[in-house]
Amino acid sequence: MIVSSIDLTRLSPSRLIPVIEISDVAAAVPLAEALTEGGIPVAEITLRTPQAVESIERIRAALPDFRVGAGSLLNAAQVRRAADAGASFGVSPGLTPQLIEAARASDLPFIPGIATIGEVLQGLELGVERFKFFPAGNLGGVATLKAFAAPLAQTSAAFMPTGGITLDTLADYLAVPQVFAVGGSWIATRDQIAAGDFAGITERAAQAVSHVAR
Ligand code: 3PG
Repeated sequence: MIVSSIDLTRLSPSRLIPVIEISDVAAAVPLAEALTEGGIPVAEITLRTPQAVESIERIRAALPDFRVGAGSLLNAAQVRRAADAGASFGVSPGLTPQLIEAARASDLPFIPGIATIGEVLQGLELGVERFKFFPAGNLGGVATLKAFAAPLAQTSAAFMPTGGITLDTLADYLAVPQVFAVGGSWIATRDQIAAGDFAGITERAAQAVSHVAR
């Protein structure tokens, strides 16, 4: 059985997924509103801070149309916590059978991380079709992704590169046919969120969206 798959157009019409580290639950809803105003009604809240799960719950309660995902999921318990908090999707930097089984059991659309073709093949065998290519920049960027995509073209594998992506490189990644989205923390940085710079986040989101539209 395929792991619950994601409706990509609903996930992010712009194909951009801001990767968020949040340390103040009070910032969660204003952050989501700022991203929405900039044209990106989606975010991956990483479970790297103790405030992440409550932030997901608050966004879920206040903005039901916002697609809030949970990122940096490292084990099955975190997958279940993310699903219980109401996350629309889950992301992990890596791929293990336990993570995939937990996502399937929780009916959580899930994007595990891969850095090799072997991991992609293992994911396909386990019923996963969407993968986070991470850390994209360190792995050789668009050139490596294209080299992966060529032999995998006859499979259903699709990729979301993250790690080191900037405004200058995002269009090159999105031009690869197997890329369904691009993720990154530059759209809403930890410092911007901590400083309450929501206008700046809206501006960065709008700037990224306009780059994609070019
Ligand atoms: C992630 O978890 O996807 C990365 O930390 C995001 O990478 P970036 O900070 O280089 O955008």
